[in-house]
Amino acid sequence: MLNKTLAFIGAGNMAKAIIGGLIAQGYDPKKITATGPRMENLQKVADEFAVNITTDNLDAVRNADVVILSVKPQMLKQVASELSSAVAHRPLMISLAAGITTESLQRWLGGELSIVRAMPNTPSQVLQGAAGLFANVYVSSQQKNIAYEILSAIGMVIWVEREELINTVTAVSGSGPAYYFLFMEAMIDAGVAQGLSRETARALTLQTALGAATLASQSDLDVAELRQRVTSPKGTTEQAILSFEKDQLRVIVKDAMKACANRAEELSQLLGQ
Ligand SMILES: NC(=O)c1ccc[n+]([C@@H]2O[C@H](COP(=O)([O-])OP(=O)(O)OC[C@H]3O[C@@H](n4cnc5c(N)ncnc54)[C@H](OP(=O)(O)O)[C@@H]3O)[C@@H](O)[C@H]2O)c1
Repeated sequence: MLNKTLAFIGAGNMAKAIIGGLIAQGYDPKKITATGPRMENLQKVADEFAVNITTDNLDAVRNADVVILSVKPQMLKQVASELSSAVAHRPLMISLAAGITTESLQRWLGGELSIVRAMPNTPSQVLQGAAGLFANVYVSSQQKNIAYEILSAIGMVIWVEREELINTVTAVSGSGPAYYFLFMEAMIDAGVAQGLSRETARALTLQTALGAATLASQSDLDVAELRQRVTSPKGTTEQAILSFEKDQLRVIVKDAMKACANRAEELSQLLGQ
């Protein structure tokens, strides 16, 4: 377990998920400080996790080995620029902000700092997240391990070698939960249209999603092979799969994920100025 002093700049949903995950793994809450503009919100975080709290971002950063930037992307330019006077000791910076490049962060923070950019997702709230990480050239292998351990508190972590691949991570896992929610919505509606109560259709759909994901993640077989094994020739599943293929499901998914990655790139141009 790490023994570093952590400062979370912004103590919203994602910061709370990581703090909760770290503490569940035995991290000392006294090594963690959470900041934010409103003491009443911070007090709730302190009540829940027994971490230190302050409305003074600079104070938290000056005393930190690792700074986790967990404010909304639109806030980050202002917040990071204000922090520039407090990072002379060169803490490891981890940014959770969607669409903000390490180059922009470096410019705002004002130096050649070790910066890890992370793209987590919402299942992090139940410690089932999937996060992509990118490290800039100033991050040491020891700092990479630290970032990996921190993000592992909320789920699976994968490193990418090129920063632009973070946009692809966004298209796969960052926005991915919403695709599955949409698919589940459609399955529930179709089950109801065929006569099930909404409650029953929902219960069957959710358990099926969970079961399929668990089976796929525990199996040595490729997902295509798993699908083929439940698709008997002339059987019922085959009819559904043929219908999906006729309606170009693969093209629909590919186009949607391209649109997502393109938007991630647009946002980083817009927010990074
Ligand atoms: N949620 C996700 O699934 C997800 C996925 C991928 C990436 N991310 C990234 O994670 C970051 C945080 O997202 P979130 O969902 O946790 O947002 P959030 O719940 O809105 O949290 C943001 C926090 O920042 C605080 N804050 C605002 N201004 C501040 C300032 N000047 N200094 C310090 N703190 C300040 C807010 O405090 P008040 O509430 O008191 O204003 C709030 O608690 C974002 O950059 C987002 O892109 C989130």
